[in-house]
Amino acid sequence: MRQIWITKAGAPDVLTVKEAPDPVPGAGELRIRVHASGVNFADVLGRMGLYPDLPPIPVVVGYEVGGRVDAAGAGADPAWVGRDVFAMTRFGGYADVVCVPEAQVFARPQGMSAEQGAAIPVNYFTAWQLVVVMGSLNAGETMLVHSAGGGVGIAATQLAKHLGATVIGTASAAKHAALRGLGVDHLIDYRTEDFESRVREITKGRGIELILDAVGGDSFKKGYRLLSPTGRLGMFGISSAATGKERSMASMLRTVASMPWFQFTPIALLNANKGVFGVNLGHLWGEVDRIRGWAGQLLKLWEKGVVRPQIARTFRFDDAAAAHHYLQDRKNLGKVLLVP
Ligand SMILES: NC(=O)c1ccc[n+]([C@@H]2O[C@H](COP(=O)([O-])OP(=O)(O)OC[C@H]3O[C@@H](n4cnc5c(N)ncnc54)[C@H](OP(=O)(O)O)[C@@H]3O)[C@@H](O)[C@H]2O)c1
Repeated sequence: MRQIWITKAGAPDVLTVKEAPDPVPGAGELRIRVHASGVNFADVLGRMGLYPDLPPIPVVVGYEVGGRVDAAGAGADPAWVGRDVFAMTRFGGYADVVCVPEAQVFARPQGMSAEQGAAIPVNYFTAWQLVVVMGSLNAGETMLVHSAGGGVGIAATQLAKHLGATVIGTASAAKHAALRGLGVDHLIDYRTEDFESRVREITKGRGIELILDAVGGDSFKKGYRLLSPTGRLGMFGISSAATGKERSMASMLRTVASMPWFQFTPIALLNANKGVFGVNLGHLWGEVDRIRGWAGQLLKLWEKGVVRPQIARTFRFDDAAAAHHYLQDRKNLGKVLLVP
């Protein structure tokens, strides 16, 4: 098999393809021939040495794949062999062969390509948890989503529009026209405009019922101020800590220092009728049965044409460094994938 290794913390060129013998599926595992692997911002942070969950380097990252099962380990259902699937991988997804516990594998419905399948787990499970499970978004409410052109942003927009909500998105200006076509009602170029004052204008001062924020730092403070009564702020990342392509402790410290350490006190929340919550899909490995329930509902929405992963670009394994540059240069509209 071929795997993409993070050989040391650093810029994208630390990503290196290496060959190894094919793995043998262990008890309860299925082996997947991978046709596409999802690239996530967490992989970028891991490569930069900024991701606390990363196993020790050298490491093969990757949280999701699409492909076909070609072997079943002892105790796993052999009926999976030959089936088209997508799967959650707890690291190791940047490979053309991977073994995963059966519970983390999902059958791909007819018409869903391996690329679309690989674009589902991280983006759509996260969006589902943010918008439906914890955000409880309702028809007539307004959702503000940052990085609206990223994989999670597009997934969240599809769910929010299906629920009958209004969507305000922040994104680099070059993505605005396409995002309008994908259902975002109002767009803000966060690089040239202050999103807080623009949201006040757009909502005529009322504020927002649900905010999805993976930028972090000061953005959480502004978001909290923008919540209307009963509004909820979902915090799920700190991309503002990744300013360059190599680790900068100064940017990390700046982001940490600008967090709203003193705004979300119990009394403040109680008096303002506001809610704040956190989401980290990478810490839900003990809840895989629950996630399977979310997947079932998302697949029903796939059948209805609501869930439609947008593939920004695919890169060959040998060009993995270019895939990371592309994401960090903020060029992606939707999911970035690696194909063997
Ligand atoms: N907690 C969780 O479980 C979880 C799960 C998935 C993702 N996340 C987080 O959610 C965020 C979005 O993930 P995603 O997969 O949807 O996005 P993505 O597809 O990786 O998109 C990256 C986009 O984010 C925007 N961005 C904002 N700040 C950036 C920065 N400092 N460097 C590079 N790009 C930046 C850029 O678009 P614009 O310039 O157009 O905004 C860029 O194109 C990430 O922070 C990720 O870590 C968290």
